[in-house]
Amino acid sequence: MKRTIIITGGAGFIGSHVVRLFVNKYPEYRIINLDKLTYAGNLANLKDIEDKPNYRFVKMDICDFEGVLKLMQEENVDGIIHLAAESHVDRSIKDPFTFAQTNVMGTLSLLQAAKAYWESLPEKYEGKRFYHISTDEVYGALEMTNPEGIEPPFTTKASSGKHHLAYGEKFFTEDLKYQPHSPYSAAKASSDHFVRAFHDTFGLPTIVTNCSNNYGPYQFPEKLIPLFINNIRHRKPLPVYGKGENVRDWLYVEDHARAIDLIFHKGKVAETYNIGGFNEWKNIDIIKGPHHLRHRSCGSRPPLCHRLLQTPEGTWMGAVPAV
Ligand SMILES: NC(=O)c1ccc[n+]([C@@H]2O[C@H](COP(=O)([O-])OP(=O)(O)OC[C@H]3O[C@@H](n4cnc5c(N)ncnc54)[C@H](O)[C@@H]3O)[C@@H](O)[C@H]2O)c1
Repeated sequence: MKRTIIITGGAGFIGSHVVRLFVNKYPEYRIINLDKLTYAGNLANLKDIEDKPNYRFVKMDICDFEGVLKLMQEENVDGIIHLAAESHVDRSIKDPFTFAQTNVMGTLSLLQAAKAYWESLPEKYEGKRFYHISTDEVYGALEMTNPEGIEPPFTTKASSGKHHLAYGEKFFTEDLKYQPHSPYSAAKASSDHFVRAFHDTFGLPTIVTNCSNNYGPYQFPEKLIPLFINNIRHRKPLPVYGKGENVRDWLYVEDHARAIDLIFHKGKVAETYNIGGFNEWKNIDIIKGPHHLRHRSCGSRPPLCHRLLQTPEGTWMGAVPAV
């Protein structure tokens, strides 16, 4: 079956993996990567597929309602996979306006364009999909029911996890109350509500997924894991909130892209699906991973290479050259 799909934010971290997967796996589809190319967008992420005949890049702002509508009409678009967003929590604290503009108004502009175009067609919403990618941060923070960690086998349904301790037995589920804590997650929560409202009010065939933290290739270096790796390599301090006790679930980005593929094709309209990795880590334990690798790669035992230190206030950890 032929399809024409706009993937927004396809030059970003997760979007580039989704674009690559769809372009390679579905040569019969036409994949349009719509991206404004903010500081977070990088077309070099897609060098390997940029010349494929079923791929087109369009530099556009999702807030440009007229532009998006025209593109949908020109290309007969029947699916939207929406990843474009401002995505860095620290930036949202400094500049919440940009987050509301892109994440809320941008999503609304896409919803309106999809509604206007698809309603103008004889078949209307038949065979159409508006798939919105969101974050599990809309649910707030997971409670640590076992702050010291529990040894596997866990009492949870975690698939494996012999590699580290579990800190709790709870997971985010789709029916949890929204409790966003940052301007980033508040803006994503708001966009989720708009997407569901467009289904309930107009019958737009929407799907929402809320995913946990992603890691893997092409992530912008301001994000936690690439930042830690770079700072350890350059012997810079490692910024960690508090004592690094925050727990997040981590998912490999290509697994997320595969989940998006499955849900886009098989997901039920109006549903919400949470995507996670059964892979929860305290931030401080995330540091220890690359730190340990660094020691192995420089061939020395930890005391000769770096030490992890806590400041007297107990709020920062640092990787410093050992004396
Ligand atoms: N990174 C994660 O761990 C994670 C986890 C769960 C959900 N998500 C969600 O997945 C999506 C992608 O996240 P990411 O980490 O790949 O983000 P990213 O910051 O790496 O990429 C965002 C992309 O969107 C583009 N963009 C930003 N504003 C735009 C606009 N106004 N118009 C068009 N394009 C615009 C940027 O140029 C960039 O290419 C986001 O919606 C995010 O909320 C991310």
